[in-house]
Amino acid sequence: MIKQGAFTVEPWSLREASLDLDLLAQSESVFALSNGHLGWRANLDEGEPHGLPGTYLNGVYEARPLPYAEAGFGFPESGQTVINVTNGKLIRLFVDDEPFDVRYGELRSHERVLDFRAGTLSRRAEWVSPAGQAVVVTSTRLVSFTQRAIGAICYEVEPLGSGARIAVQSGLLANEQLPPPGGDPRVAAVLDNPLAGEYSEAERGLVMLVHCTRRSGLRIGAAMDHLVDAPDGAQLESRADADGGVTTATAGLKPGQRLRLIKFVAYGWSGTRSLPAVRDQVRAALTTARQCGWDELLAEQRGFLDDFWDRADVETDGDTEVQQAVRFGLFHVLQAGARAENRAIPAKGLTGPGYDGHAFWDTEMFVLPALTLTIPDAAASALRWRHSILPHAIERAEQLGLKGAAFPWRTISGDECSGYWPAGTAAFHVNADIADAVIRYIDATGDDLLTHTARLWRSLGHHDAQGRFHIDGVTGPDEYSALGNDNVYTNLMAQQNLAAAADAAGQYPDRARELGVDPEESASWRDAAEAMYIGYDEALGVHPQSAGFTQYQVWDFARTAPDQYPLMLHFPYFDLYRKQVLKQADIVMAMLLRGDAFTPEQKARNFDYYEAMTVRDSSLSACSQAALAAEVGHLGLAFDYLGEAALMDLRDLENNTRDGVHIASLAGTWVALVGGFGGLRIRGGAVNFAPRLPEGLTRLAFSLFIRGQRLHVEITHAAASYLIADGDPMSIRHHGDEVRLLSGRKRVCKIPPAPVRHRPSQPHGREPARRRGGGLDG
Ligand code: BGC
Repeated sequence: MIKQGAFTVEPWSLREASLDLDLLAQSESVFALSNGHLGWRANLDEGEPHGLPGTYLNGVYEARPLPYAEAGFGFPESGQTVINVTNGKLIRLFVDDEPFDVRYGELRSHERVLDFRAGTLSRRAEWVSPAGQAVVVTSTRLVSFTQRAIGAICYEVEPLGSGARIAVQSGLLANEQLPPPGGDPRVAAVLDNPLAGEYSEAERGLVMLVHCTRRSGLRIGAAMDHLVDAPDGAQLESRADADGGVTTATAGLKPGQRLRLIKFVAYGWSGTRSLPAVRDQVRAALTTARQCGWDELLAEQRGFLDDFWDRADVETDGDTEVQQAVRFGLFHVLQAGARAENRAIPAKGLTGPGYDGHAFWDTEMFVLPALTLTIPDAAASALRWRHSILPHAIERAEQLGLKGAAFPWRTISGDECSGYWPAGTAAFHVNADIADAVIRYIDATGDDLLTHTARLWRSLGHHDAQGRFHIDGVTGPDEYSALGNDNVYTNLMAQQNLAAAADAAGQYPDRARELGVDPEESASWRDAAEAMYIGYDEALGVHPQSAGFTQYQVWDFARTAPDQYPLMLHFPYFDLYRKQVLKQADIVMAMLLRGDAFTPEQKARNFDYYEAMTVRDSSLSACSQAALAAEVGHLGLAFDYLGEAALMDLRDLENNTRDGVHIASLAGTWVALVGGFGGLRIRGGAVNFAPRLPEGLTRLAFSLFIRGQRLHVEITHAAASYLIADGDPMSIRHHGDEVRLLSGRKRVCKIPPAPVRHRPSQPHGREPARRRGGGLDG
């Protein structure tokens, strides 16, 4: 856990005022820089000490065998693991021969700041070497949003007190040694020496290395070049071998004089291109960046972020910590998706190796809702990636004896990488989640993703003797239940998928014909959708998560000690599966996404029922619970959950921020605010708001891009205002009433009081931390 106070609370940056070596790995994740293509963990410039060295390129992985004690038909045979590629962040410093290492000598001060508007990580350290020479070291680094192959660092050193001989050694290092993994399944497999050297070159300040992964056969090029500035000039020398290269700049400095080194680093990779092609690609990117220069890179970075914040900022008055956390979250979401360009958005973005760098349903259900309404181009790119792996998904469905497409539960390149069936391929809901994201993004045109996923549902489910359509033996969002029948979330999402595909086939008959859909097939989708079975427990007045769930024994929460969470690390799945206990929101997500399928009373009752058994062992849970708590009227609880989702990484609430930040939870913070306190629901093209603020917030403001129009929403306790700056008139609903918006004319609508409800209880010891001013319901 990271204690409160580790970071200064300020609205536009994250500041760490001193260095805590015990939290190094966590801080490397939260301060990580990325643009969706290249990711740099915030390892110290000098490389050591480190928590976990990390440089990642989206899509670069190594294949590894997935061994099974007992094999079974259809088990994936090969896994994929993101690899730490060539480290270009390294800048070692020698002060009169002594290496700058914060563990030795005296570290008088150390500060790091992640600036959300500048898009930079800066550092200032004042250090006294064991021999007594004091220096000030400052560095500013960026991973460029505008030049996606580029990272750059401006590094300066200045002696204090007396003059010193300074050597700054900038490095490129491949096959860095990594700390051994622990026993937590959420961490990545560690692969030794994944990179085979193919080419190295050193010439004046420039060094280039090209490597190939040994099994997956991907070629990776990395190169660096430098500009050095020192009062009487500096000596510069470069050398390289297969796994490393250095450029060293030396100078004698008097007090007050500085050596400044600007380092440009370029990356490129390919599974098909030749060595010269990759080399040239990297060289071109490097030359462009160097010619552009450090100041221009900084200016471009700020320009890109000005535009982003103008579109996507969410203002939350009344709680500065939440404000900071929300912007921190949005910044990381942007970093994960901005320049991914037809590649996946992994669960940890490019901030760490957690979950082996795999992408899950997290993308479609947590990240894309925010991106679709703020930076739609990034959402489109993530959907194009899904589209690009459709052939893998069709092949997988065939292997499983199913029709259509079965998308992988976790993957990098498109193949299923989960070696655990119950919480892997059986989580078929990922297919309906993808369809949901497609519907949200394109309002259901004739997209083939809809068709193939509808086919899957039709072949996975069956009509019973009464004609009801069932989907049996699947795992829903809650991973403490597996292989259930008629999981309500899965059935409702599949129903939407089937109906949307049938509608699209009717609307776009030519496209449907191209996809081989005949009227009989689309009628079968509609029948299945209409006959979809949704279970209900009349006695309890709630929906069972899956058939029979409400009859199971309830988990013994009173006898579960606080240190036995997460339960999956302390109890066998076998036991979790047969008890009423939820790892994460399941029905709650169904109510959020398919709110039309529940009455307000059912929502309130279901929420309370499942609240008492949801332990939130997944970081994906709190944000959904926040949004639904707000809808049913538990505003104080919603605010507490918002805090949990927003602070997931800033406080390391799941104890695994070291492996990377939790992109879904950070994006979910947006959902909790906009979907929760803003009450935004878009269904069938209708835009509905039901805003209500918790006591802890005095104002919430955000913008959305809906059908090419920018809608600005501002909410206080008393009223909400809606404004479209320019564009066509548009209708929205405010707490059920239609409101017509005309360009440039703000409409102010009163907010009705929330229903008064008793705060529901959570499992013993799993209550969310109360946020100041936010703890009251009603
Ligand atoms: C959750 C999944 C999620 C995965 C990656 C798991 O702990 O249960 O729902 O997709 O983490 O974030």
